[in-house]
Amino acid sequence: MRIDIVHPGADKLRYEIREIVEVANRIAALGTSIVWENIGDPVAKGEAVPEWIRNIVGEAVRENHSYAYSPTKGVAETRAYIAKERNLEGGIKITPDDILFFNGLGDAITKIYSNLHPRARVIGPNPAYPTHSSAEAAHAGAPHLTYRLDPERGWEPDLDDLEQKIKTHRDIAGIIIINPDNPTGFVYPQATIRRIVAIARRYQLFLISDEIYSNLAYEGSGMQKLASVIGDVPGIAMRGISKEFPWPGARAGWVEFYNRDKNAVFDRYARSLLHAKMLEVCSTTLPQQVLPQVMSDSRYYPYLAERTARYARRSARATAAFGAVPKLIAHPAHGAFYQTVVFKKDALNDRQTLSLSPEAAALIEPHIAHATFDQRFVYYLLAATGVCVVPLSVGFNSDRDGFRMTLLEPDEAQFDKTITTIVSAARTYLASNN
Ligand SMILES: Cc1ncc(COP(=O)(O)O)c(C=O)c1O
Repeated sequence: MRIDIVHPGADKLRYEIREIVEVANRIAALGTSIVWENIGDPVAKGEAVPEWIRNIVGEAVRENHSYAYSPTKGVAETRAYIAKERNLEGGIKITPDDILFFNGLGDAITKIYSNLHPRARVIGPNPAYPTHSSAEAAHAGAPHLTYRLDPERGWEPDLDDLEQKIKTHRDIAGIIIINPDNPTGFVYPQATIRRIVAIARRYQLFLISDEIYSNLAYEGSGMQKLASVIGDVPGIAMRGISKEFPWPGARAGWVEFYNRDKNAVFDRYARSLLHAKMLEVCSTTLPQQVLPQVMSDSRYYPYLAERTARYARRSARATAAFGAVPKLIAHPAHGAFYQTVVFKKDALNDRQTLSLSPEAAALIEPHIAHATFDQRFVYYLLAATGVCVVPLSVGFNSDRDGFRMTLLEPDEAQFDKTITTIVSAARTYLASNN
């Protein structure tokens, strides 16, 4: 090449949640059946989308206008429905023009960071959902800046750490929270969000709240949307249907802008996102067409409540089982459908092993040569048992070792078996060479 054509941020793009699939497929070819615990897709994991939702989609499929482009911001009736619902909840008031649809939040996340001023940084949680941390790091061509979620305190964010970093890094222009959080299942208590809003106000920052799991917060979790506490601070809330309906293949999500009228620079930035979307014409039409009918159906919220009750029960069982291992830390999830387990400090080293067939050992050998400690455990677990989870370090940009599994397995006996398998493998691994 006459000049380098690789973007300086290219090495920052990592999605271990899917990268591990390649290795798992090769383990499967050796005859081990894989228990896929890596991806948060309820449908792929066997949850049935309710028939009444599929019927609504089926009817929309027969409508000719479902095949058309939609307005760049999104279908007008759908944005009107979302704005009305948001305004009924109290808190900040929005109009349909404060809403912008994307092809899933993955698309929204990419655009949010790539359209920021090259100098502007957004600080996010550690551990972090990798699309946010990778896209922000790629935008900056530098490692993602993070504040700590503390596993020793039930994943409460360390707000002193957050404020200290904001003081030190003068380029930080925004804070992101994921609420309910992926991968920890943490739900930000109202007092914590209020303190984060106060920090944003004090340092003149904008806020992003990824609320893709907000309708999957468990009963009693105290879930509060950003809209209810943001006051006059500029902010963006992110929502979608991938996890709720669930319909991840629809590629439909949206952002809500708060307080554009209070800050001209934020308003200009919001308009730049609209213009970036305009270059692509619009987002997927059909999922937007059905959204109001699905979400306003009397069966919708009872259906979500049933699902979250199941996740809460599974998380309670998983927490009890993992918590019984002295070197592991686990907390019950309060929302979303993930279980994260952390290894206590100094629990892992690079001599621990599980017994493997020579073929399986040869297969993971090149991967563990440069692996982080938790990644090494994850490869051994995969090769020895077929259970495919995601390491926290490389999978979720975390400075703590651990792993994430899902709470999605619909077969309760299989779910319990997976937990028992991981617990037993972790005990053997931890005891193997200390
Ligand atoms: C926190 C979070 N945000 C965004 C996304 C992306 O969702 P979408 O399917 O809308 O691209 C995910 C997917 O797992 C997620 O966990």
